[in-house]
Amino acid sequence: MIRKIQHIGIAVNNLRDAVPFFRDVLGLEHVSTEEVAEQKIRAAVFRVGESRIEVIESTAPDGPVGKFLQRNGEGIHHICFQVDDAAEALSRAREKGVRLIDEAPRTGIHGMRIGFLHPKSTFGVLTEFAQEGDGER
Ligand code: CO
Repeated sequence: MIRKIQHIGIAVNNLRDAVPFFRDVLGLEHVSTEEVAEQKIRAAVFRVGESRIEVIESTAPDGPVGKFLQRNGEGIHHICFQVDDAAEALSRAREKGVRLIDEAPRTGIHGMRIGFLHPKSTFGVLTEFAQEGDGER
């Protein structure tokens, strides 16, 4: 079951230029900045009520966000729904004919169990499921 929008991911060319907008102009609370080496990204997480915004920069041009930025420029990259069980949410989507990027959950920011659906199956919106883990903040 989907509980809420966990976060919206926004791809930016670099955090140095982007973070002051979210922190100082919008006045959002900065939760953390974390690198996910496997995804070749670094993300600054901001709290927005019960949800988050992840501002994401690429750490390598051949990474998924690096390729996205080359194709599309800066902008909304993905939407993430919080679910009780990421593995179950992925397999349920697969049973309904949705193309998956991740066949099984992997570990994302804050220790969440995450997995992505393919945007070709989700009307162009890269869609993530996240199950909050012990690292929940
Ligand atoms: Co995300």
